[in-house]
Amino acid sequence: MSEEKSKVDMEKIVSLCKRRGFIFPSSEIYGGLSSCWDYGPLGVELKRNVRNAWWRAVVQERDDVVGIDASILMHPQAWVASGHVEGFSDPLVECKNCHLRWRADQLSGDKCAECGGELTEPKMFNLMFKTFMGPVEDDANIVYLRPETAQGIFVNFENVRSAMRKKLPFGIAQIGKSFRNEITTGNFIFRTREFEQMEIEYFVKPGTDDEWFDYWVKERFNWYLNLGIKKEVLRLRQHGKEELAHYAKDCYDIEYLFPMGWSELEGVANRGDFDLTQHAKHSGKGLDYFDEETNERYVPYVIEPSAGVDRSVLAFLVDAYDEDVAEGETRVVLRLHRDLAPIKVAVLPLSRNEKLVPLAREVYTEVRRHFMAQYDDAQSIGRRYRRQDEAGTPFCVTIDFQSLEDKQVTIRERDGMAQIRLPLKDMVATLQAKLRGETFATQPTWSAKAVGA
Ligand code: GAP
Repeated sequence: MSEEKSKVDMEKIVSLCKRRGFIFPSSEIYGGLSSCWDYGPLGVELKRNVRNAWWRAVVQERDDVVGIDASILMHPQAWVASGHVEGFSDPLVECKNCHLRWRADQLSGDKCAECGGELTEPKMFNLMFKTFMGPVEDDANIVYLRPETAQGIFVNFENVRSAMRKKLPFGIAQIGKSFRNEITTGNFIFRTREFEQMEIEYFVKPGTDDEWFDYWVKERFNWYLNLGIKKEVLRLRQHGKEELAHYAKDCYDIEYLFPMGWSELEGVANRGDFDLTQHAKHSGKGLDYFDEETNERYVPYVIEPSAGVDRSVLAFLVDAYDEDVAEGETRVVLRLHRDLAPIKVAVLPLSRNEKLVPLAREVYTEVRRHFMAQYDDAQSIGRRYRRQDEAGTPFCVTIDFQSLEDKQVTIRERDGMAQIRLPLKDMVATLQAKLRGETFATQPTWSAKAVGA
């Protein structure tokens, strides 16, 4: 991690997340549980939108990648084959004075970072969570909570290839929970013990792997940019030889400038034929591929783009966070990409006056048929705009007394706070076009006059 840091404080993000219902500490009424977080009503929508954007880009919009959803509990031998039972460990040291535990490779000196006390010798600590299958808690019944989704893909390579009649190159994508008993966690949802991954294993002919590796590094880097991450806070970092995982031929981290500094958002690795070879050896099932074009049989190489859902959510939140001035006051606004915003359209009657309610509810019924929407009539219209700005809602539709006469509504846009008044009959089409990111052939005139702001 470098000294350089994002301009946004993590405290501001954590506080906004709690205030607006994105993310809460887990089991908070019991004092919380270290490194565990619960996604609230807005967080669950944001997270779902992140997953959907990834799935759309890597599965739905491609012919060469298909999806699976493998079980979290796998045959324990799979983790022997993958190398996790033997080698998925971090060096653990304990302070002899305050008994805090640290990852030896993350400490800058040889003393406890909390109290300066003397440390024990490093002990290798396996990061996999263990549990037991069935009622008997003995070694024969040990199973692991998967520490990565990747292995569920490798063990299904042949199932998917034959069922879907896939030829190389092709990929298998999966989104799901992973668990690691990390020694040190922290930085909000950046490093937790339960988290979600979005992984692709892309199988290629050996010899074409370098080319595909470059392709996926660029593809994945651009995915973040296309969803609004600013170029200057995203970078690629190639792993040095000493840093490469035992299975990797090459690896790039896509790094984001988080509040604590540049840190890994996603890794893209060339895993060679390590995984399929290992699983073939340990399972006794052939996992090689017959190439009909060249009449050759070989074990495919694998390019693996491996991203974290929670880390992506954090990066999107940090990147979208902004403060500007509205009506002489500081306004907090989440400039989330329209595809990621939890609520797309908020419907706001100017007041709770009973004359406005029937039309406002009618508009809301129509809007929610098309978009994730929210109806809000509590407090002043200015307060409600601020709330939606903090939630990242791109558009608010306001119904006022004039709407009853002329059947027109006002659409207010989050980023520039511009407003447009338009006939109710054009509202849905206009919002749809704006939420697709389209600009109009004939631009509607955005009014400088704000409704109640
Ligand atoms: N299959 C390869 C693999 O799992 P990794 O670099 O260990 O590679 C991939 O993890 C991604 O998963 C990371 O870039 C990060 O986004 C996410 N991730 C890993 N450990 C995490 C943790 N403890 N908390 C949150 N996200 C994590």
